[in-house]
Amino acid sequence: MATKSLRSQEWFGRKGKDGFIYRAWMKNQGIPDYEFRGKPIIGICNTWSELTPCNGHFRELAESVKRGILEAGGYPVEFPVMSLGETLMKPTAMLFRNLASMDVEESIRANPIDGVVLLCGCDKTTPSLVMGACSVDLPALVVSGGPMLTGKYNGRDIGTSDVWRFSEDVRTGIMSEEELNLAEAGLCRSQGHCAVMGTASSMACMVESLGLTLPGNAAIPAADANRKVLAQLSGRRIVEMVNEDLKLSTVLTRQAFENSIKVNAAIGGSTNFVIHLLAIAGRIGVPLTIDDFDAFSRNIPLVANLQPSGKYFMEDLYYAGGLPAVMHAIGRYLHNDCITVNGRTVGENIAGRVSLNRNVISDLDQPFNEVSGVVVLKGNLCEAGGVLKPSAASVPLMQHTGKAVVFEDIEDYKRKIDDPDLDVDENSVLVLKHVGPKGYPGMPEVGNMGLPTKLLAKGITDMVRISDGRMSGTGFGTVVLHVSPEAADGGMIALVRDGDLIRLDVAGRRLDLLVDAAELEERKASQAYPTNPFTRGYAKLYVDHVEQAHLGTDFGFLKGGSGSEVSRDSH
Ligand code: FES
Ligand code: MG
Repeated sequence: MATKSLRSQEWFGRKGKDGFIYRAWMKNQGIPDYEFRGKPIIGICNTWSELTPCNGHFRELAESVKRGILEAGGYPVEFPVMSLGETLMKPTAMLFRNLASMDVEESIRANPIDGVVLLCGCDKTTPSLVMGACSVDLPALVVSGGPMLTGKYNGRDIGTSDVWRFSEDVRTGIMSEEELNLAEAGLCRSQGHCAVMGTASSMACMVESLGLTLPGNAAIPAADANRKVLAQLSGRRIVEMVNEDLKLSTVLTRQAFENSIKVNAAIGGSTNFVIHLLAIAGRIGVPLTIDDFDAFSRNIPLVANLQPSGKYFMEDLYYAGGLPAVMHAIGRYLHNDCITVNGRTVGENIAGRVSLNRNVISDLDQPFNEVSGVVVLKGNLCEAGGVLKPSAASVPLMQHTGKAVVFEDIEDYKRKIDDPDLDVDENSVLVLKHVGPKGYPGMPEVGNMGLPTKLLAKGITDMVRISDGRMSGTGFGTVVLHVSPEAADGGMIALVRDGDLIRLDVAGRRLDLLVDAAELEERKASQAYPTNPFTRGYAKLYVDHVEQAHLGTDFGFLKGGSGSEVSRDSH
């Protein structure tokens, strides 16, 4: 039984009118009175939605969590929160991450919950749930939905990273629309999220490396029976965590964040990881800056051979030992004494977890790439920072000077990119403006913009591309993202003109617009920066309050937490 008085007893343990109201309506669900008399009440925060196909199996997954909670003497209460489906939501699911986090935070705090299991899957559902839960800081753990099985098309393995290849093949006529249709039917073969090391998988690895899940959570496919086993064990464990009062803030130390940055490097994880981890750190009150991502990933080689940086899929990662085997491979770089939600340390969790397949998980002596992680660039074009993923970039382009070809916004890009008269060659630098947090709004995943059709036809496969937007974690290329400040917030990127020289110097961590300062001052003076075009609703709130990419694009007023105390009753 609990060693401290349960929070839920401030509702259900009450006498008189208040206790009557708190219990009586719950009893319409057929709950016996004894369930309210001192059992830990465990929330299951569910992002199930048929509009979030990656989380479409979560009602079933929640049943396994419930079984574990009941076995361990707790009482489960499942509740829905806003779900963010990456593929359907316009203008981008990212616009709603902060909104969903507010839903999560208030739903947890306002209700009689002692601990919470966060059911996360598709990209944004993981950071939004963790952010919201951090601002309440109860005992909490994450159960991820798991990746899909590897896709199949025409006798070969495919995953989300192929979407970008297929789309270029269709534009150049290598692939027909009918073939594209067949690939579409073979890509998403089972329940689960994207099967490559895209953002969803990177987020699942993020929560595991932070210590917020049971070991092995990230890689178990959604369709594998062991996913349900992990869910049930997680249900058992959260009840113990409540009894031990093991809160998020105990697990989420500065060292845990450093571990997570290193693991994201070792797996070739998504650039979106930078934005989401910064936002989570902001909620739990751990100081973390964009420069930490470069500093802590710099020595870490790529030891997982997964698309888009490598060859394989999440299913292969699972069979090769999962994330514990990756963490074991880079164990000497990790803070092994960090405590995790199972009550054991990182070192204890990964002891003996050697790779079961060297083609998929290697070691420090024979990595798949010496470079990994996220490079943080500074320079007059991104004074507060910009990021690039070297393991997904082309080596020759990482030191490059070229003439800018400017697209003022995404519509301008779409208008021009197929134009045979576009003044562009393979040495050009494509610059896409107004796809930042405020400018779009919501910072969509368009930074890995497709190459000009006439260059694709010549066989060009990569060019330097720069934007204030993001790219899908499944994307690749020599792409500078998250340029901050963005064009719509006074950033220098707004001032770039066709033909300007831009120098990318990854080794020197610089990105510069080679236009003299006096000319730039003149351009700046005549540049009209937009004001918030929205007069109402969430978009207005978002543009008024969203912070820049190098700070994690959270709302300034959501930073930190308000704890779990609520002193006033509802009646
Ligand atoms: Fe949901 Fe990729 S679309 S994880
Ligand atoms: Mg995505």
